[in-house]
Amino acid sequence: MSAVEKWFQEFEALCSQVPTLFPSGFDDENVRIRALRLAEKAVHQLHTPMTFAEAQTWAPLELVGAGVACEMGIFDILSKHAGSLSAVDIAEELNADPALVARIMRLLDAHYMVDQVSLGQYAANSIARDYVQPYRKGNVMTQIGLMPSYFALPAWLRANNYKVLPDANHCAWQVGANTTETFWESMSKDPSLSKYFNDYMTVPRTTQEEDFVSFYPFEAVFADSSVDDILFVDIGGGLGHQAMRVRSAFPRSRGRIILQDLPQVTSKITAGSLPDVEIMDHNMAHPQPVKNARVYYLRGVLHNHADHVSVQFLSRFAAAMGPESRLLIHEALATDLDPTKNITRFDLSMFASCGGAQRSEAEQKTLLEKVGLEVLGTRSMPRDWSIMEAKLKRE
Ligand SMILES: C[S@@+](CC[C@H](N)C(=O)[O-])C[C@H]1O[C@@H](n2cnc3c(N)ncnc32)[C@H](O)[C@@H]1O
Repeated sequence: MSAVEKWFQEFEALCSQVPTLFPSGFDDENVRIRALRLAEKAVHQLHTPMTFAEAQTWAPLELVGAGVACEMGIFDILSKHAGSLSAVDIAEELNADPALVARIMRLLDAHYMVDQVSLGQYAANSIARDYVQPYRKGNVMTQIGLMPSYFALPAWLRANNYKVLPDANHCAWQVGANTTETFWESMSKDPSLSKYFNDYMTVPRTTQEEDFVSFYPFEAVFADSSVDDILFVDIGGGLGHQAMRVRSAFPRSRGRIILQDLPQVTSKITAGSLPDVEIMDHNMAHPQPVKNARVYYLRGVLHNHADHVSVQFLSRFAAAMGPESRLLIHEALATDLDPTKNITRFDLSMFASCGGAQRSEAEQKTLLEKVGLEVLGTRSMPRDWSIMEAKLKRE
């Protein structure tokens, strides 16, 4: 057997061990990430510059194909069926053109989003079943909604001689979407994009998500609380999924939990979906009306805003905080050494769509210190996410 043939066999054997070694999936997210990065390096070594460029330059179409399939309901139909279906079966259920469905099925199969179990017969796999979830559809369609800003970024930077300090009013979004509005303003006038975005925000950010309440020592910070104390203010909290996690762990008798967001978001919260959580319209640019809470919490909020805007918001929070209040910034942070692909894409997305940034730990810390806050520490989760904890600096 040639050395190459032997290598093929060993490589295949190694790959086939994954389901045996991890029969019920990966319990340890760090193990999964380490293995994935090794595999990605192996794939990279197998590319030529030409195939690398081919994969990269055509990648947006994979997302577009997924978006079309999501909106057509292809994943829903496949996931409802125990067995397999042909493109004609799917087209019939959807009342769509069979030739179009056949083309989309080919794309989904080629990109591992469905399984072709026998010639022309397709079945749902774990990806297809995930793409049925409202948060995943929202994820896909929000990215498609943001694309005008991505496509306009090179021209916008060129026109500005690569010397720019973007913010939500001055970034590639205005050029790409041919508007003077911010992305947020445009989205608030587009009910379909707003729904997709709010659904997307409920997506689990890490596998630690379920343990969020035990990941941070809320019990200690909420010690000796009573019914009138304000335990937790979720600022820019979207549909309230994080506020609800804390509420479920700490009954109403332990204190109040408040969710704040702009009216275009709070008005979309379904009645009864957040028992014992107070819902409040609030713009972070205005003085924070809730004083002396135990915890002020922001997840994935500051990254949407330029530094000078974030400092303005932070100064509002600092002015409301008491000596024992904590500010928790739950964000994906960038590292210079070995940055993940995700964080660098995330960063460019913020830059293009709203003039925001995925900051490094040091950059985020500097913002907090500018408004008189002292960073007590940063708790890291897998996949770039972390919680930075701060309190008012003692004089
Ligand atoms: C990326 S989303 C994060 C939502 C939620 N915290 C989460 O982690 O799922 C950012 C949120 O900030 C809100 N937001 C943006 N600008 C705001 C402002 N000026 N005042 C209050 N909320 C704002 C948006 O409406 C949105 O819900």
